[in-house]
Amino acid sequence: MRPEAQPLTANMTTLFSRLWHGADYNYEQWLDAPGVHAEDFRLMNAAGCTAMSVGIFSWAKLEPADGEYDFGWLDRLMDSLAEHRVRAILATPSAAHPAWLSRKYPEVLRTHRDGRRGPHRGRQNFCRTSPVFRQKCLDINTRLAERYAAHPALLLWHVSNEYGGEACYCPSCLEDFRRWLWERYRTIDRLNDAYWATFWSHRYTDWEEIEPVDISMHGLMLDWQRYNSDQVIDFYRAEIAPLRELTPEIPITTNFMRPLVGLDYWKFAREVDIISWDSYPEWHIHDDADTAAMTGFYHDLHRGYKGGQPFYLIETSPSVTNWQALSRLKRPGLLKLASMQAIAHGSVGVNYFQWRQSRGGEEKFHGAVVAHRGADSSRVFGEVAEVGGLLGRFPELSAGRRTAEVAIYFDIENQWALDLARLPRNATGEYQQTCIQHYTQFWRRGIPVDIVGPGIPLEGYRLVIAPMLYMLTEPVAAQFAAYTAAGGTLATTYLTGLVDESDLVHRGGYPAPLGDVLGIALREMDTFGVHQSGTLAPVAGNSLGLHLHARLEHYAEIVAPTTAEVLAAYASEFYAGSPALTGNVYGQGRAYHLAARPDEAFLDHFYQKLAASLAIRPVLSSPIPHGVSVQAREAGSARFLFLMNFSDSPHSLTLDAAWQDALTGAPAPSACQLEPWGLRILRMEK
Ligand code: GLA
Ligand code: ZN
Repeated sequence: MRPEAQPLTANMTTLFSRLWHGADYNYEQWLDAPGVHAEDFRLMNAAGCTAMSVGIFSWAKLEPADGEYDFGWLDRLMDSLAEHRVRAILATPSAAHPAWLSRKYPEVLRTHRDGRRGPHRGRQNFCRTSPVFRQKCLDINTRLAERYAAHPALLLWHVSNEYGGEACYCPSCLEDFRRWLWERYRTIDRLNDAYWATFWSHRYTDWEEIEPVDISMHGLMLDWQRYNSDQVIDFYRAEIAPLRELTPEIPITTNFMRPLVGLDYWKFAREVDIISWDSYPEWHIHDDADTAAMTGFYHDLHRGYKGGQPFYLIETSPSVTNWQALSRLKRPGLLKLASMQAIAHGSVGVNYFQWRQSRGGEEKFHGAVVAHRGADSSRVFGEVAEVGGLLGRFPELSAGRRTAEVAIYFDIENQWALDLARLPRNATGEYQQTCIQHYTQFWRRGIPVDIVGPGIPLEGYRLVIAPMLYMLTEPVAAQFAAYTAAGGTLATTYLTGLVDESDLVHRGGYPAPLGDVLGIALREMDTFGVHQSGTLAPVAGNSLGLHLHARLEHYAEIVAPTTAEVLAAYASEFYAGSPALTGNVYGQGRAYHLAARPDEAFLDHFYQKLAASLAIRPVLSSPIPHGVSVQAREAGSARFLFLMNFSDSPHSLTLDAAWQDALTGAPAPSACQLEPWGLRILRMEK
């Protein structure tokens, strides 16, 4: 199913040799506080910490004046970590540069769209093409790499922090954008054609006329988004050049976030050795089952970026966050549960933001392992230490893979294109939510799902679901067609295949490049307002045995089958009787198309029937109560099963095979009890 992993270097092998535990440690904030550091290292050992992220925001302490470096404190920190048998995830400091740097070289600051230069404030406020800024990063990164190359604490590079795609409109960035455009199109007329620029007389005659500020030019703004993502990757490449050269053995990561930050992580993933990401779910505010499913989706997405390689949950709050509108205390047990959820989905560890609460600044009330009032007797510290103990028990899980028969295709460029498109219904945030909604149907049933995207092979999956793939390129359509022809099952929805990679409508009607695979042609698209809905009714004798009626919202496409079977039809509106759900035989496989957005109950029903028809098996065959997630991860000769109760009620699950309790080795009872927020880890030799 997946390409075999490359042989690992010794340090990558170390990374996958245990489950790591740690936090962002801002040692430099406590240089003048007697006793704090000694207390920190004592507590790290007590909490089972094995890897701490250090130096992330310490540029001002490392280079207090231009060209004057002070590594003394970092030497002491690295040595103390090594003494306490804790490894360092050492950061490069570009995410927050010192004020003197902005004052001395004002061009390092980002320029707003109106041409005004932004102030020095907050963090991540720099221009990524600024030659001075790049040189300053190169200088300090080179010194860090030279100094710590052979340090026994160094485990992993943490490059910068949470790169985002914020645009800079300075002359240097605009010139670089025009160069990027030239590389893509080579002639101005090719660019004009790709942008359909005759519309509103937008044709350019010279590259210098191009300003990326016109949101009526969808192709241009899509390219600007792509360019900014590429610009970040290019900046990252410049940052890591000295690390690769001086510490070729040390793996490199940079912390990713949820996808809506303007970066194409599918592309970025190729440049890092291990994916890491920062997860801040809003527990206890919505239905925790939904929050858990959504978090599962994001874990699977981050595992997906590198085709299934384990990732690192490198930041999560041990208690509250202070930047969300509202953040509730994690209920007792939830920290352990959410931590092990990450492990179940493929993480190599659990790290927190942050180790010690700061006394001042923006994040002084953000949760931490060591809170203002200390740690020893605190509930949070106790739970953190428990997580540390638990992670120490299962080193073999770190390299453990997962297998899935279902894949959901998620493409961030499609999100960007949808954000720009002016459709009869403009609620584009629904793309990601819809992917999560489809994912959740499988999550609830204990059916593992991989998230796939551009460049990820599809062979071996029984079912590939591509919701709302408005921007469908010819190569992706060809990949879907080949996958289906070879015996795969494809499922698409409304809004599929309208435009190509330039946001130009495909010739020959939608869903043009997939028309033959789906066996339909799209005639018209209706939409529903907030209090409006339609209905769908299964066709008697349909091949999936569907019998539930559905309420429809948001979208209802009127499609004409060419070769497809009609499984369900509209039961309302002037198009009543026309197809709402079709299935088409294509080569050895089948392709389904949901022309409308059905309610949750119907989606559940559809996927239940579809999964059954494809003999897709859940990891546990007995029913799973609402709020409970069951996930499996393979590790060497063993298979681990995680039973996770994301609800405040106790639940019981029936086990269908001879599992052992992974902690005690005792046979697990066939009726397995789960406390509220409870967790059981089971194990079986394969
Ligand atoms: C992000 C950042 C951290 C910190 C946390 C707070 O993930 O990387 O530096 O600001 O948020 O939740
Ligand atoms: Zn710039």
